[in-house]
Amino acid sequence: MPGILLGDVFPNFEADTTIGKIKFHDFLGDSWGILFSHPRDFTPVCTTELACAAKISNEFKKRNVKMIALSIDSVEDHKGWSKDVMAFNSDGESPLPFPIIADDKRQLSVQLGMLDPDERDKDGMPLTARCVFVVGPDKKLKLSILYPATTGRNFDELLRVIDSLQLTAQKKVATPVDWKPGDEVMVIPSLSDAEAASLFTNGVTTKELPSGKKYLRYTKV
Ligand code: BEZ
Repeated sequence: MPGILLGDVFPNFEADTTIGKIKFHDFLGDSWGILFSHPRDFTPVCTTELACAAKISNEFKKRNVKMIALSIDSVEDHKGWSKDVMAFNSDGESPLPFPIIADDKRQLSVQLGMLDPDERDKDGMPLTARCVFVVGPDKKLKLSILYPATTGRNFDELLRVIDSLQLTAQKKVATPVDWKPGDEVMVIPSLSDAEAASLFTNGVTTKELPSGKKYLRYTKV
């Protein structure tokens, strides 16, 4: 089964893109990376997604995350589509602020397990699903998300998970449901109370539960 699992080193693939040929690891350098795939160029949902990604690209930059999209069309198609995307944003004079990989032979889509067998083009060929891969500066996969072609993603949620990934890469905490930067975080279960008390000088509060087990431990970072 092709695909890539959390913690795997992301393949250092070579690809043609709208900024020329790249080797993925060189493209990332020391940054985090986000690769998001699209079923096809010149399609409606994909256009709204790329337009949203372009609008908030500065937010990814602030977080030191390099963006790259992928679709199973050619560089030439991608360049034409990019103009539509920026025009959709009423910003037709600006270039798309990130490259798009041309996977017109579907090699990368197969390698990364991104094809959706239920979604096919007019020739019966499978299209790419809406995958998201977040890669850390160590080139390892930190997060993957897989949506079908018919459901557009939420790019604000992608920023939120990147904030969580970057925080939890640094500190021994986990982020609870709907967490946003600035909210309280949770002490990870593998830390003893003594370790937590010495690590989190802002204090740790524990919520009482019917089980009597003291596993809901909150702190501020
Ligand atoms: C779209 O981007 O709108 C789309 C692409 C393929 C299948 C369904 C929707």
